[in-house]
Amino acid sequence: MKISSAEFISSYAKFSDCPKNKLPEFAFVGRSNVGKSSLINSLTNIKKLAKTSSIPGKTQLINRFLINKCWCLVDLPGLGYAKVSKEKRKKFSALINEYLLKRENLFCVFMLIDSRLETQKNDLNLINWMGRNEIPFAITFTKVDKLSKKQLEKNIKKYKENLQKHWQELPRFFITSSKKKLGNEEILGFIKSIID
Ligand code: GTP
Ligand code: MG
Repeated sequence: MKISSAEFISSYAKFSDCPKNKLPEFAFVGRSNVGKSSLINSLTNIKKLAKTSSIPGKTQLINRFLINKCWCLVDLPGLGYAKVSKEKRKKFSALINEYLLKRENLFCVFMLIDSRLETQKNDLNLINWMGRNEIPFAITFTKVDKLSKKQLEKNIKKYKENLQKHWQELPRFFITSSKKKLGNEEILGFIKSIID
């Protein structure tokens, strides 16, 4: 699938502010700085569509983008960044949980994982929570340009083994680099297959 148009719709501080609609929505979740906003820019091929920063805690609202006039990408605040106040972290987490649980037109969540890191307990908790709540998700490894092929394979194998301790069936996996524009075709093909 080719993206021929991408436009920012609006930002929302509360779930209740998100207007109800029927357009298929695909959201990006994960730790602060994992590369959610960068992946949206890479997929849409628009450098500054979503705001990114090398400093974690950049995205603090629900941001919706209209793609090809008929479906949406959603950038969410990052989880668990220690330098954001405890109160804010709790607020983000509650906002994200509410969005994931209640958004009726949410077709799939891309759960972003930094390919360099060991399995994080909080990530695993969120994955298991989405599984229990029957929220469809796909695991998306980010920043793979920062690893050798061998190290990447090792990390992914380990990640899958950790998930298999909890789940018999593994979700879809994507391997991405926003810097090198890796994984875009796979993700867009997957989105297309869901929309169709
Ligand atoms: P929050 O909004 O704080 O939750 O962060 P985020 O998950 O949206 O991360 P963001 O996209 O802002 O990226 C964080 C930093 O990682 C930025 O400095 C990006 O340039 C960098 N980054 C993101 N993706 C990649 C990638 O694929 N490769 C490399 N090398 N750097 C990346
Ligand atoms: Mg962001």
